[in-house]
Amino acid sequence: MTTLFDPVKLGDLELANRIVMAPMTRSRAGDGDVPTELNVEYYRQRATAGLIVSEGTQPSENGKGYCRTPGIHTPAQIAGWRQVTDAVHAEGGRIVLQIMHCGRIAAQANKAPGSETIAPSAVRAAGQMFTDAAGMQDFDMPRALETDEIAGVVAEFGQATENALKAGFDGVELHCASGYLPMQFLSTGTNKRTDRYGGSAENRIRAVVEMLEAMVKAAGAGRVGIRICPGVLFNDISDDDPTETYTALLKAIDPMKLAYLHLILLDSPQVDGLKVAKANFTGPLILNDSISLERGNAMVDSGEAAAVSFARYYLSNPDLVRRLREGRELAHFNRKTLYTPGPVGYTDYPFVSE
Ligand SMILES: Cc1cc2nc3c(=O)[nH]c(=O)nc-3n(C[C@H](O)[C@H](O)[C@H](O)COP(=O)(O)O)c2cc1C
Repeated sequence: MTTLFDPVKLGDLELANRIVMAPMTRSRAGDGDVPTELNVEYYRQRATAGLIVSEGTQPSENGKGYCRTPGIHTPAQIAGWRQVTDAVHAEGGRIVLQIMHCGRIAAQANKAPGSETIAPSAVRAAGQMFTDAAGMQDFDMPRALETDEIAGVVAEFGQATENALKAGFDGVELHCASGYLPMQFLSTGTNKRTDRYGGSAENRIRAVVEMLEAMVKAAGAGRVGIRICPGVLFNDISDDDPTETYTALLKAIDPMKLAYLHLILLDSPQVDGLKVAKANFTGPLILNDSISLERGNAMVDSGEAAAVSFARYYLSNPDLVRRLREGRELAHFNRKTLYTPGPVGYTDYPFVSE
């Protein structure tokens, strides 16, 4: 019987166990969006995960949406992340960087002066986000990218991957879920383009395929993963036919032989994401969302998943692997300190005592 505590290889990534720490934005980067000693401590504490997927990290100033999120586009940011990856590796862990370009899910008050909010089309998301500078703000009205600008945005993903390797990451993950830029290209509600990046599913997947190609060119396919959540409506995203869209996407990227597909399971009336993934992607799957130890073990034993990722449990249980292995109680997280600066609710969740 295979369990979550058994090792596994995802592409070139060798995991000591199949318990993955899912990506979590925690809004605790320092000035200049640079990872600090506090971030080092947080990731070090969680390094017994088979693999850590970092918090969403912007590849450029334009890619930033939320306050206090880290970047991977300046020398100081690369140096900051190097401290994190060194700490995780010293504990025997593995860590990949999640590249997250927010696209239209942004508020200018969170962004550097001179940066811009861009998207496939000038369609504003309904809703608001928190900013340190001005409290709750409407999402920005994005500027639609010109066709000849898209190569430059794609190149940011390649450069971010190069920078991630320089910072010591074991690989990178494209955040193609939750209504951010890659998903804005995929989805009919946000992509109204009439050029080769819009219209048919084949055209809407093009930018995402190009982003992955740029990442693969920089790191090799065995160090690149992608995260998707077909049918999700978060951040005002919508798609007329996610089954068609994700079938086209996964068929196109399957031959790339990526390290893994990180799939967020969702009870969607529109699409069965797992069915689409199984039918069109032959590489390893990391499955996520509200998975219990029992279900996770069943998923890896049946071969349905190569690994399972946990977000909220990891937030409040730095020694999650040990707790699961020993059948210990799991601590609950404090919602109030999810995104607040400082160590409280971040690095002060206790380990089980001997
Ligand atoms: C505080 C918080 C921040 C999150 N930030 C990200 C993120 O940066 N990137 C991402 O892909 N998902 C993000 N998520 C989603 C989680 O990775 C995960 O998909 C979700 O919490 C469901 O998994 P769980 O049931 O194990 O918590 C976040 C979730 C939480 C709770």
